[in-house]
Amino acid sequence: MTDSYNRQIDYVRIAVTDRCNLRCFYCMPAQGIAYEPKKELLSYEEITRILKVLGELGFKKVRFTGGEPFLRKDFMELLEHTSKIASYESIHLTSNGTLIQKHINRLKELGITKINLSIDSLNAERFHKITRRNDFKKVIQTFHLLVENGFKIKLNAVIMKGINTQDIIPLAELSKDYPIDVRFIEEMPFNGGYKENLEMYAAKDIHADLSAHYPILNKIISKHGDTANLVSVPGYKGNIGVIAAFSRTFCNTCNRLRISAKGDIKSCLYDDGVFNIRNFIRSGVSDQELMDKFSEIIRLKPKDGFIAEKMRKSPELALQSMSSIGG
Ligand code: 5AD
Ligand code: SF4
Repeated sequence: MTDSYNRQIDYVRIAVTDRCNLRCFYCMPAQGIAYEPKKELLSYEEITRILKVLGELGFKKVRFTGGEPFLRKDFMELLEHTSKIASYESIHLTSNGTLIQKHINRLKELGITKINLSIDSLNAERFHKITRRNDFKKVIQTFHLLVENGFKIKLNAVIMKGINTQDIIPLAELSKDYPIDVRFIEEMPFNGGYKENLEMYAAKDIHADLSAHYPILNKIISKHGDTANLVSVPGYKGNIGVIAAFSRTFCNTCNRLRISAKGDIKSCLYDDGVFNIRNFIRSGVSDQELMDKFSEIIRLKPKDGFIAEKMRKSPELALQSMSSIGG
């Protein structure tokens, strides 16, 4: 299904919970955010129904995010059901890596091997300062376990001025021995009201740091819908990427739709929810009506994140937390 700018929209990101056991300061205030009661969240039956309908519309890729998806009790059940929907070529997860370990075997059996892990620092103290929790060791251990078990890992690090710019090269060096993508993300103002004015460390600054350290960086041709500008160091097993999440330079190839834990559809990360699909489903609509609604939403998808931001009902980006939007 294509939108009015001729972009093929075939990727949906679904937040399965707004809860998280970390408190990354770029995402949430220290006291957390007001979580939604369970009945407000899409049930796994509602999520699988949405996925089937989107499959009919040509969707091929799904990512489950949160919050931390493994905090949701029925998450593995949701994955079992999703893995049976034939339309999806791949099921992806985004996780903070604190709760995955005991599920590794089952994930492998289900063929769910593509996981984005958030690791913003390789220094235990800085990791603690950023996440406000003590899970550094566990997360690093999980990273190694996943790689050893053949999972396709993308490591995401939000880069913040004065906080973890010194982690860029050590993190990038992980791509030497491991066949992973190490991706640096520009900080966005979605932090649950913790702070409004960002002192941006922009994608171009990150690229400059990489170029200063590595004399040769080969450009990797991007795949459909890729948001990262990928490069690789000659001889290294993995890639290094920079995601201009705030500068928004990739909107012309956007292929995605987002659904928050309580069913708010975002046709762009920067809009503030164009439609609540949970209420629509609970009003008793048919699959055909659901499909028509999704088609309409996709047709109306804004040209880019700047236009979407202008069209918001609430101008305040910082009041939202990525934990409820879904990373
Ligand atoms: N800016 C950029 N990325 C963010 N994430 C969460 N909050 C922000 C923010 N304010 C990303 C983290 C994490 C994913 C779940 O969302 O990289 O990997
Ligand atoms: Fe949790 Fe991810 Fe937000 Fe950190 S960024 S608090 S791990 S949802």
